[in-house]
Amino acid sequence: MLYRLVLLLLSPMALAAQEPVQFENQILPILEANCFQCHQETYTDAEERLREPKAGLRLDGAGWILRGSDYSEVLTPGEPDDSLFYELIALPADDESRMPAKGSPLADAKIELIKRWISEGADFGDWKGKPGPKKAHAKVTPKKTLLLQSLAEGTSEASAAGITRAAGTLAQITSALPGTGLLRVDFAGNREQVGYEAVSALMPLRELIVELDLSRTKVGDRAVGKLARMPRLVKLSLAQTEIGAGALSDVATLPELRVLNLVGTKIGDGDLRRLAKLEKLETLYLWGSKVTAGGVKNLRVLLPNCRVVLQAGLPAPEVGAEPQGRRRR
Ligand code: HEC
Repeated sequence: MLYRLVLLLLSPMALAAQEPVQFENQILPILEANCFQCHQETYTDAEERLREPKAGLRLDGAGWILRGSDYSEVLTPGEPDDSLFYELIALPADDESRMPAKGSPLADAKIELIKRWISEGADFGDWKGKPGPKKAHAKVTPKKTLLLQSLAEGTSEASAAGITRAAGTLAQITSALPGTGLLRVDFAGNREQVGYEAVSALMPLRELIVELDLSRTKVGDRAVGKLARMPRLVKLSLAQTEIGAGALSDVATLPELRVLNLVGTKIGDGDLRRLAKLEKLETLYLWGSKVTAGGVKNLRVLLPNCRVVLQAGLPAPEVGAEPQGRRRR
């Protein structure tokens, strides 16, 4: 009985109506406890040592966070997969680039919260923190809004009951764009339990799903085969899953796909050819996969307009350029 009640409280509709993440109450304490030690204004520690912000990255002010590190921006509002701020905390515990650089990884719930905050537009609310360099407060790209508006034409919203049924106990289904029926699906907190069944359950909503995050779930090629029937899927993450080359053939049939994340999969150079049909693909994340600079070079011939990211935080080297390391110390 109590169990059912808890399920009810956690039901997807409750989540859909969920308040946006509040930076100052929910995110700032995580940063203070886990990041400030290495990423704040220069200070003198208890042993009288001068501590400068690592990589020049300060997280103690909104302006500083938006400025990024000495090397690059770390936050793209609306795009966690394009934000080092999220990517580096979501790495496997044994990855040497993982943040925090020392100590244990952040708890999954905290990682998901940061992800959600970035997805929702990385709004700092009234918090400013330490005064920093001025920078316009970017919002989710209007281009994306326009795309979703055009995809929404001719669709009708799903019923609340239909959404609840498709979500089951594992998925969080939220609106991808207010005023349309388009949906975003995530499995935060339940990734270990997500496989073929959970993906199949989404099929009644297949016309409406535009973003689907299956990263770190147990999906394999059979589950990915189901996705081929999602005509409006714009953004798909299969990062750190066990998918094989066969899955790419199904992914390649998605007519509207713009962003594909294959980070940390066993996809290799020879498999990329299968993506050649994805003419609308704009960004492909491949770091931590088996793909090499040579494979990327061949893909560029097939998909000249696609930005390929082979290393965290840096686009893959242009054709003919020397391979670059992410670390520029
Ligand atoms: C013990 C020190 C330490 C802690 C704690 C720490 N970091 Fe870092 N961080 C580093 C170092 C060192 C680098 C530079 C790594 C390199 O260049 O190899 C770095 C780099 C980064 C970068 C990449 C900057 C770039 O452009 O390459 C991001 C983003 C980042 N940290 C975020 C965080 C976040 C978020 C937290 C808290 C969850 C955190 N860090 C906690 C030491 C730390």
